[in-house]
Amino acid sequence: MAGRMTPIRRADEEGALSEAAALLKQGGLVAFPTETVYGLGAVARMEEAVARLYRVKGRPPTNPVIVHVASAEEARRWVRHWTPAAQVLAEAFWPGPLTLVLEAAQWVPAVVRGGQPTVALRCPRHPVALALLREVGEPLVAPSANRSGRPSPTRAQEVWEDFPSGEIDLILDGGPVEVGVESTVVDAREDTLHILRPGGVTVEDLKAVWPGVEAEPPEQRKKASPGSRFRHYAPRVPVRLFGGEGGFQSLLKALRRHPRRGLLAPTEILRAVEAEGCRPEAVFDAGPLSDPSAYARRLYEGLRTLEKKDIEEIYAWVPEEEGLGLAVRDRLARAAAGSSGESVLFVCSGNTCRSPLAEAIWRKLGEEEGLPLAVGSAGLFALEGRPASASAQAVAKERGLDLSGHRSRPFDPSLLEAYDLIITMEGWQADELRRQHPEAKGKIFSWREIFGGGDVLDPYGSGPDAYRATLDRLEADLRRWWEEKRGRGE
Ligand code: TXA
Ligand code: MG
Repeated sequence: MAGRMTPIRRADEEGALSEAAALLKQGGLVAFPTETVYGLGAVARMEEAVARLYRVKGRPPTNPVIVHVASAEEARRWVRHWTPAAQVLAEAFWPGPLTLVLEAAQWVPAVVRGGQPTVALRCPRHPVALALLREVGEPLVAPSANRSGRPSPTRAQEVWEDFPSGEIDLILDGGPVEVGVESTVVDAREDTLHILRPGGVTVEDLKAVWPGVEAEPPEQRKKASPGSRFRHYAPRVPVRLFGGEGGFQSLLKALRRHPRRGLLAPTEILRAVEAEGCRPEAVFDAGPLSDPSAYARRLYEGLRTLEKKDIEEIYAWVPEEEGLGLAVRDRLARAAAGSSGESVLFVCSGNTCRSPLAEAIWRKLGEEEGLPLAVGSAGLFALEGRPASASAQAVAKERGLDLSGHRSRPFDPSLLEAYDLIITMEGWQADELRRQHPEAKGKIFSWREIFGGGDVLDPYGSGPDAYRATLDRLEADLRRWWEEKRGRGE
């Protein structure tokens, strides 16, 4: 295949769909438009083809793919229990941007499930996707058609940029997509629905048809969606987020000091920046502030357009949470994680006091600027699912931090992949982790190594003043660090 370029064909061209279907049936990989983003398809039952798809994308084998079906009837054959929730959701949102995670039928290939006992199913509503599924006559797996970790493609040309030289067999061009962010992934095995990934169907939409909906905090999502790493959807240049109250002034200040920045933001923000006489090197308009669906549609194209400009960093404005804003915030947080060192895991022993406090402080620092941060905590000897200690909860509450939802989590090695920075409370904990995981050495640090001073010791068994002192120290160090980071290079 040397020297071969990946062919692109317009989906409405005579014979294009039947050629695509024929390629797929021979075990080929074909990219096609869906209403959310372009997908890279393979016949779901052809294990060889699915394995090749993982290789071509550079996707970790533990991250399962979505099985795309032409109808709910077809989906039912792939699951063990088609639950009442699945029935209601499929009736309300299929075909459309909703993916249901259900217990897999026993014969579903492990490569499709990423080793999980579950399978993810979705019936897309894009006419080309539906026509292709019907032409092939059986389900297709289709992850987003980007190289693993890159922004998802919203037009055929962007698929080609990631796979230009015949790595895949055909790209069907159906024009720009309608939604722009991926489907909402929902665990529908029980009566309480868990949102594993916010996406094209909003939480508000889901709640309107099914009362019990829980949005999983991103750090818990790891468990259910094993492949979901924080650093994802990232362009080739670093991304830094601005938003919320006070965010505009920080943005102006940063732009004045660093002209070689690209700016992705809603129209009103771009205008206000210009009115202040500020000229970023490149801008990309994310649509009106009042329309988060416009931002969703333009998000990935914006990141991919700006990364090609002569800039050192992309500044992105974070929208509010309503509607598709939630999914945009999620993708932006992931695009920025790593580039700004914002995905942090705090580690102590039991994960019931020090590390949950540090996590809550870090999250609050982000919230003060309207920024969603990727942060979590775990304990080297933690039990699963224990609340924070009563003393920790009490002192946290005095300072406006809420630990009531915290549940302890034992450290496990997959967290090293999920987070960019691991900070332990005591020196021996960092030493131990580095000894056990030398490959991740570069991102494991003890508190002392980053902030100076001694170890952050466990106040367990001492009075409330010891807990307050611990909290004070964590907060002072983290606030100083946050401010240094936010003011980086200014
Ligand atoms: O909109 C979309 O969903 C697009 C278009 C092409 O349909 N597809 C897409 O696929 O976004 P992908 O592979 O990029 O993302 C699939 C997501 C991942 O976060 C994965 O962890 C989750 O779905 N997932 C898949 N199977 C799962 C399972 N059995 N349990 C939990 N999460 C699962
Ligand atoms: Mg993807």
